[in-house]
Formats: sequence, structure tokens, C-alpha cells
Amino acid sequence: GGTADHGARPLVGIIGGSGMYQLPGSRTLRTQWVDTPFGATSAPVTVAELNGRVVAFLPRHGGGHKVPPQQINYRANIWALASLGVRAVISSAAVGSLAATQPRDSFSVVSDFFDRTWGRADSFYDGSTEAGVQHLPAAEAYCENLRGALLASLRDLAEPHQDGGVVAVINGPRFTSPAESDWLASAGAELVSMTQYPEPVLAAELNLGFATLAYITDSDTGHDGSEPVTAELVFHRLRAAQSRVAAVLAQVLDKLDDDYRPEPRINPEAVQAVLAAPVVV
Ligand code: ADE
Repeated sequence: GGTADHGARPLVGIIGGSGMYQLPGSRTLRTQWVDTPFGATSAPVTVAELNGRVVAFLPRHGGGHKVPPQQINYRANIWALASLGVRAVISSAAVGSLAATQPRDSFSVVSDFFDRTWGRADSFYDGSTEAGVQHLPAAEAYCENLRGALLASLRDLAEPHQDGGVVAVINGPRFTSPAESDWLASAGAELVSMTQYPEPVLAAELNLGFATLAYITDSDTGHDGSEPVTAELVFHRLRAAQSRVAAVLAQVLDKLDDDYRPEPRINPEAVQAVLAAPVVV
């Protein structure tokens, strides 16, 4: 310790979910608002040292849960992390379970999404920059390298976890009805969230690696006989699991190579054009 460069470029961006407004165990190097071409981020970005690495941390819902899931400026958040030079984004989130294979109180390293949101700005290639039209392949939205690092960390810490899960993303802010929950499960979804779209595709559109560390707080409308989800239940379970989530996020930094490079999905010149677009202040 003590040698971190305060102007250092962070390798990894960490997006904190509900209940995580700071990165436990980290040492703050600087906290800064990042102006973006797509408007304001949820909160200032904290560049911090965690487990010997420099990371950029952003609480998805702002400080103290002020921004609801359907109003988060996902583009601004991902752009801000990219502009600081991160190559990977790890998104932490509380999710509900829709299947017996994804038990409450375990972790899941998500492998696919099923977007059921509406009205969210979910592309950087919307004609507002010089980058032109781009069509992202979404077959592998999550980075296998990062997923492997999360899985190895969960194994090290002897945390119960699943390798893979399809997360349905509902618009919120309300939870599903029982009919909706059953329908999502019958369509192949195993987890449910309000925030896990469009983060993965926006990260991929800027050639950033992306993976989600999901902690399962509840069984949604109660397919396993447990009490149906409420916001209080989610926050209560998350508070209880906070130190476990933080331990996984610290551990995963040990598993990444300094020269980690995600697989580019989009023409790098188009990405550069988005990153060079004039910011809005
Ligand atoms: N986040 C945590 N649990 C959830 C659920 N059951 N539905 C949507 N988002 C959630």
C-alpha cells in the first residue's frame, strides 16, 4: 500500500447495487463527477484502491437510493466508467429467483438476459455522435474471462453459487404479478431484476468486458413457498449479505490480469467516436 498513483487509471469499474453506496474495504483516491455526452451519471465516480488495484466505483441508484431503476441514466454511467479508462465492468445486483435451481441467499454469475424493459435508452449508436450505425451481437453479452474470475472468487470464499442464469429484466419500479412471474419462468428466465438491462449491452457497445455478480434475495412471488418479495425484504437481505458481496468484489480483483483485454464487439473507431463526443455540462 501507499504507492497508488492518485491519477491512476482504473482497470475495473464496479457498479454497486441497492444498498451499496460505497465500496467496503477500499481507500478513496479521488471522487469526481464525470460530464458525459449523454447527461448526468447517478452519482460521482469514486476512484479507489481495493485489494491492491485501482477501481472506479459508481452506485447505480445514486447516494442513498434516489434514482429508481427505470430512470437510471445507464448510458451516462457506462460512458463515465469507459472515459476513465476501465476495461472491465462488474455489476453487482440484488435479484429475485424464478427457479428452484437458483436458491435464495446464493450468488449467480449471470449468463444471459431477457429484456422486458421499455423506454430505456439502450444504445450509444443512436445517431447523436459521429460513430454511425452499429449493430451489437448480443449472443455473448457477458465476458467469459470475467465470469470465470467471479466464479473462482466465489469458490475461494466457499460461497454457494450458480455458474449461469438467465435474468429477466422488468421495468419496475413495481415487482411482477404472479402471472407475469410464472410467464417469465416458463419462457426460460431463472432470475428477475429491474436493473440488469441495458448495462451489459452498453458496456459491450464500448468494447468493455462485463459480468454480473447477482445475489439472490428472494423468490419473487414465492415459487418455493417463501414469502412474496417486498422492497423491505430485499433491503433487509442485502444488508445481511453486504460483507459477503464486498468480499467477492475484492477477491475478483486478484483474479484479473493487468493486461486483461476484452474481445472487441464493435469497430474500435466507432467506440472512439462515442468516447470523443462532446460532453453535456
Ligand atoms: N430485485 C431483487 N429481487 C427482485 C425481484 N423479485 N424482482 C425484481 N427485482 C428484484
